[in-house]
Amino acid sequence: MPLIQWNNDLYSVKIESIDKHHQTLISLINQLHEAMREGNAKEIMDGILHELNDYTIYHFNAEEDLMRSHNYPMEEYTFHKEQHEEFKFKLSELVEKYQNEEILISIETSKFLKEWLVNHIQKVDKKIAGIINY
Ligand code: FEO
Repeated sequence: MPLIQWNNDLYSVKIESIDKHHQTLISLINQLHEAMREGNAKEIMDGILHELNDYTIYHFNAEEDLMRSHNYPMEEYTFHKEQHEEFKFKLSELVEKYQNEEILISIETSKFLKEWLVNHIQKVDKKIAGIINY
């Protein structure tokens, strides 16, 4: 069973493109978790981590563009963007430390990624549909 199972009721933000991005992020976190459990080679873990890092940046940019193009309330936008920046920093730090062999990818790593994403979708991203009324 995957670490995170997509559930429309729990995770859909009612914007198809954003839901698709979130499904991709969930899939990458699941792949990383599986690779860790199976003890896959460092090159495989490295590849998934880089893809996760790159896709996260791509997704955050797309979400921020969407909010800006709909004149999202500035306070909400700033808060949302700060959350993105914080996570991007933590993720890039994780990738770097893993690359430099300072840390291993563990259950705690998967749990951190899962909890951050699920919380962010439910508490922050879900506000987007309500505000921009897509
Ligand atoms: Fe879907 Fe705000 O990240």
